[in-house]
Amino acid sequence: MQDLSRRGFLGRTIAAAAVPVLSLAPRSRPQAPLGRATALPGGPGERWVERARAEIPAATNYGYFQTAGIGPSPTPVLDVVSAVLHRQNRGPAAPEVASVISPIEPDLRAHLARAFGARENEVALTHSTSEGLNIVSWAFNWKEGDEVVVTNQEHPSNVIPWYTLRDRFGVRTRVVDFSAGTDLVGQIRAALNARTRLVSIPHVSRNNGRRVTADESAALADMLRKAGVYYHLDGAQGPGCVPFDFAALGCDAYSTCGHKWLLGPKGTGAFFVREAMLERTLMSWTGAHSHATMDYEGGYTLLPSAARFEFGTRAHADFAGFDAAVSWMEAIGFDRIHGRIDALVEYAIEKARSLRRFGIASPVEAGARSGVFVLRLPEDADAGALYHRLAGEKDILASPVREARDLRIAIHFFNTTDEIDEAFDAIEQFTRG
Ligand SMILES: Cc1ncc(COP(=O)(O)O)c(C=O)c1O
Repeated sequence: MQDLSRRGFLGRTIAAAAVPVLSLAPRSRPQAPLGRATALPGGPGERWVERARAEIPAATNYGYFQTAGIGPSPTPVLDVVSAVLHRQNRGPAAPEVASVISPIEPDLRAHLARAFGARENEVALTHSTSEGLNIVSWAFNWKEGDEVVVTNQEHPSNVIPWYTLRDRFGVRTRVVDFSAGTDLVGQIRAALNARTRLVSIPHVSRNNGRRVTADESAALADMLRKAGVYYHLDGAQGPGCVPFDFAALGCDAYSTCGHKWLLGPKGTGAFFVREAMLERTLMSWTGAHSHATMDYEGGYTLLPSAARFEFGTRAHADFAGFDAAVSWMEAIGFDRIHGRIDALVEYAIEKARSLRRFGIASPVEAGARSGVFVLRLPEDADAGALYHRLAGEKDILASPVREARDLRIAIHFFNTTDEIDEAFDAIEQFTRG
């Protein structure tokens, strides 16, 4: 008889997953040697990087600088997803299968809470950062003339909801300048007025890599709480890229995903909301599983936790993979990961400065910078065209962003200084015409 108990099943799955399985055929591109990455100043490069790279096919198939767009997953994470899907499919409605599947979500909520400074009842599992953004944007009884403060460095997912609310309810947005080096807190203070309901800004910008620092966030949290304004951070580029502690940031809510810097399955996310703000975060989307009790005569009570934002049939295998991805990162150590990202970014900053043809659109100061490193190309260069040449001719994946001359080189711990050198060589070559 097969051991279908949760412990037996997941224990075997993760043990099997610990063996790296490289499922993609190697491409013709010579693999970038680790070279200097193993001796980064202040950065413990070494065998742990090599071992991690061996488990992430994309890390050796490409010069992979697109984690800010979509993160590659380690093979053991995919193995967990596959194992859960197959196990579930043996008898999705069978009680012994349900007993394996049903703890996946509570376990993941608890894990995310432990890993990222939240209480278990403050975490909801979503499918994307955008889902969290929608929970927040629909959490108010909007009136014409109500205002939201955003920045000029947003992803479309923190823009379109406000356009929608403008068209439906007459909600207005005020935009503050989040370019490197501006006074974020001062600008937001100046933007507040009696109609301000919400501030929704990036923890780390996808356009210029600027991070809201711990001090800035604490000052904003204090100021906005006193003003009665809801404070939301768009954390798509946060966890895995920079340290993330929900309680320490002091925001009311935080939306993020598993599929970028945490290297989880695509279509996984999490929404964090402070316990004290749960009742103020009004519900717009609900359904089966949002409720604690209900009857067919009009009565219901919602779950007394953030899990009330979840409803309907869920992608359990993906959530099991999300859990495995966080465990995989923890086994390496978030401090080690963040330290190496920062050392690699510093290396890229020095490299860009030494070449003199390029500017840097992202912040260069430690604390404000992140793994989202953004190069400003020479005047006649076009980041969109460059992106295609880098991908097509050199297997280097970077990304154009909002400014036509800005090229985003998202640097995760699995990247190397040799890959950064290769990327700069190619960028130099292609921007010289
Ligand atoms: C800052 C930011 N917000 C939101 C999103 C949307 O993320 P998701 O695809 O998880 O909804 C992204 C994706 O790149 C992003 O960078």
